[in-house]
Amino acid sequence: MEKNRKIVGLCGSLRKGSFNAMLLKVAGSLIPKDIEFEIVGFDDLPVYNEDHDIPNVEERPASVVKFRDALATADAFIIASPEYNYSIPGGLKNVIDWASRGKDSPLMHKPVAIMGATQGMWGTVRMQHAFSPVFTFLNMNPVLQPEVLIAQAQNKFDSDGNLNDEKTISIIQKKIDNLISACKV
Ligand SMILES: Cc1cc2nc3c(=O)[nH]c(=O)nc-3n(C[C@H](O)[C@H](O)[C@H](O)COP(=O)(O)O)c2cc1C
Repeated sequence: MEKNRKIVGLCGSLRKGSFNAMLLKVAGSLIPKDIEFEIVGFDDLPVYNEDHDIPNVEERPASVVKFRDALATADAFIIASPEYNYSIPGGLKNVIDWASRGKDSPLMHKPVAIMGATQGMWGTVRMQHAFSPVFTFLNMNPVLQPEVLIAQAQNKFDSDGNLNDEKTISIIQKKIDNLISACKV
């Protein structure tokens, strides 16, 4: 039987009212209905400690095991994130590190679409650039085009999380289409 495809979303901001959480939901709504979409949270993971990772995998915290298992179900990823201090938010980088080790890393070789929203003027371009060497080291397949860079997000999303910008929605749709085309299954 053919396996249903699945995309997992990760949000780099944990705050209530996050524009990136809104962006991730908009992206999810643009995925065809025959493809499953799940946003996987990670606010219960500890700070990375190699003493509790390979080769001591039996010492991985339960929250890490659960997180890796959830990511393993994905054929592809969408990451929506702000930039913090011109780079990847520490919480997001931390869980990428937890998911990165071992031949069974749930990230390796998979397509990933990165996007971001900021209240500033640069639309997370520096965070997206900072992900480039991470994707290279993990042998991931970043779907680079089109770039989804939402500046001044406070003027584009309404209080219900709707994105009121048709041009941006069409760019996100194209990014999703390209991500799905990059899926091998
Ligand atoms: C710790 C921290 C660092 C930030 N650094 C940047 C930055 O480097 N560039 C930028 O455009 N905005 C920066 N911001 C502002 C965020 O873009 C803005 O708060 C955004 O709304 C956060 O995303 P969210 O709405 O998904 O939580 C920073 C915010 C925080 C809390």
